Order: sequence, then structure tokens, then C-alpha cells
Amino acid sequence: MTSLDDLAGVGVDRRGGFARHGFTGVDLELRAWFTGEAERRGLGVETDRNGNAWAWWGEPGEGAVVTGSHLDSVPGGGAFDGPLGVVAALNAVDLLRTKQFTPAKPLAVVVFVEEEGGRFGSACLGSRLMTGAIAPEKALALKDLDGTTLAEAARACGVDPGRVGRDEEALRRIGTFVELHVEQGRGLVDLGAAVGVASSILAHGRWRFRFRGEGNHAGATPMADRRDPMLAAAATVLAARTAATGGARATVGRLLPVPGGTNVIAAAVDLWLDARAHDTARTRAVVHAVTEAASRAARDEGCTVEVTEESYGDTVHFDPALRDDLAATLGGVPALPTGAGHDAGVLAAHTRTAMLFVRNPTGVSHAPEEFAEAADCAAGTEALADVLAHLAR
Ligand code: GLV
Ligand code: MN
Ligand code: MN
Repeated sequence: MTSLDDLAGVGVDRRGGFARHGFTGVDLELRAWFTGEAERRGLGVETDRNGNAWAWWGEPGEGAVVTGSHLDSVPGGGAFDGPLGVVAALNAVDLLRTKQFTPAKPLAVVVFVEEEGGRFGSACLGSRLMTGAIAPEKALALKDLDGTTLAEAARACGVDPGRVGRDEEALRRIGTFVELHVEQGRGLVDLGAAVGVASSILAHGRWRFRFRGEGNHAGATPMADRRDPMLAAAATVLAARTAATGGARATVGRLLPVPGGTNVIAAAVDLWLDARAHDTARTRAVVHAVTEAASRAARDEGCTVEVTEESYGDTVHFDPALRDDLAATLGGVPALPTGAGHDAGVLAAHTRTAMLFVRNPTGVSHAPEEFAEAADCAAGTEALADVLAHLAR
């Protein structure tokens, strides 16, 4: 059996939790761990054109039953978001073998690269590149905070940027994809269930607001003479809270003053808005309201603002027949929606896709406190093994 504890020392964020980002030394460490675990089980490991890692039980082939998740984290992330799905997948293979099960279809465990977008700002990079949901030239030009492009980072990790993009062969191979994930809310707690299946994912996206003003001296510049982009950014943060009504969510979790000095009026501020709602119209309405407020605040302060959509994904409704089939296979576990994005959400537009959730006692996620009880993780692994056996028979 494989344990999440194996990864406890990898990519530790000195501020708390983990900082595991795609195409870094930490990513290579995580890949080496995955390869070791897969090879120990006699699974054949390959990396696809977009840097996603695949471990095959049997010959790779079309119509496979595929499970897995991601190993990267948000900055300061928890131990479960992503790795639980990978560990559960490997352990489910063990469980199936213990039960003498031999899949009639090819079966694979996949690790998608840079799901969180923690380094390059764009979520689900591995799955969106593989499915063509993001253009390779757009993705390859993305830069991290140090100015390194995705193309440079990928090349340094052995992925040829010239081959990145929609991968027909990989897509043909996926007959059904099932991702197990820690729940990122308290739905299963409220339902009194250790495991559930996903029904839907909120529409969601990321927008960058770039405010420009005038850099100047914090002591020598009278208040009336300032063009401070931080004021416009602050008004935008408040507007996000006001705009997110009726179940919508709007978050500013990242804000970057340039150059960033205590005694310096910023010359510019970059701010990122994460907005989510039940459908595209409501998500766009939130972004529109925040953009209007940002433009007003920028004008009032003598600044400018430029808004760029960095990523967007419409509402996902998981295949109802598959969802109900898996829920029934698991003895009638509940189905529940989520506000979190997943590679499974990207794949749902291309192939039969489902998700299993494991109870999270506090609902906290994207934070070091993220947690699931060992017994619930074990129940999730058993559920995943049952589902894989059902699908691959
Ligand atoms: C990823 O977990 C997201 O929902 O942004
Ligand atoms: Mn996440
Ligand atoms: Mn995740």
C-alpha cells in the first residue's frame, strides 16, 4: 500500500502546507515517487506530450478505464487535494489484485500536471492542453513570477514544447475517467456519508486586473497629489464581495504591487479575481460588476485598469447515467455538487467522466488544515476499486 505520508517531506511550503508546482524540481521529485510506486507494482509508466504521467496495468490501449488526479498544490496547500486521488488509485490497483481481479479493459493511473495553476496562473494545464481546451502557443507563453515561460520550464523537465497540445492518441485511450478527490466542502458531513459521487462543478474562471498609477514617495507626496493604484485595487476587492450574490463566489487571493515597498506608492498593482457561479451568465455578471467598480475606482484615482481573462470553464454536469450507475454500484451513495475545479471537469467535455468525493470533516481545502480521516480515505479507496472493477470488467 502507498501512503500520503510518503510525500510529507516533498515541497514543504515554509509558510505552512505545501508548495508543489508544475515543472519544478519538486514536480520531478513527485514524478519520481509516482514512477517508483507504479513500477513497484509492475505498471508501465510513460509521460505524454503534455507532461502528464501515466501508469498502465496491462498494455496501453483505447477505451481504457482511467483514474488519477494531480500531485501539484496551491501555494500553502493541503496534503489531500490531488495526492489523495493518486494514492487511492495506486492502492485500488493493489486491492483489485488482492481480490484476484484482472481488468478486461486497459486500466491506467494518470497524474495531470499543474492542475492548480499555482505556478503559471492557468488551472488544469495538463488536461486542458491534452484536450485542446487551451491553445499551446497561449500556454507556452505563460510566465511564472520569475519570468520563466512554461515552454522553458517544460523543456527543463524533459517535455518538448514543440509537441505540446491536443493529444488525439491520449484522448482515444480514455474510455472512462474517474477522479477520486477529497471533498472541498461539508456536503458529505451534512449527509453523514464517507463517500459520494459528483453531480456538477460551478462555472469558474480567473481574470487579471492590471492597475497603473504613478510610483512616488510615501512621505514626500501629499495625499492630494497621488495616483495610487492600490486604492483602485482595494475598491475592487470590496466590489468582489458585494458582487457575489445568489450562490456566486468571488475571491481576490493574490495581489501584487509593483515594485512593492512599504515607503513606496505603487506604480502598478496586479490583482487576480477568481469568480464562480452556477452558469456562465451569472459568472459573467459578477465579473462585469467587479470590472465596472474597478474602472470607476481607477478613474477616481487618476489611474488606468486593464482586465484580461486568463482562464474560463463553463458549468460541468457530470454524465448522469454514469453518475447514477456508480452511485448504485456503491450501494446508493449520495451525489453532490462542488465549487472546486478539477481535471475531471475538463475531461467531461471529451469523454465519459465521473468523480468520487471523500468526506472532509471541516470542509477546509486549499489550506494546510485540509483533512480526511484515514477510515474515510480507506472507504474512498475501496469505493474506487469497486468502481474500477465495475467499469473494467
Ligand atoms: C482548484 O482546485 C480550483 O477549484 O481552483
Ligand atoms: Mn485544488
Ligand atoms: Mn484538486
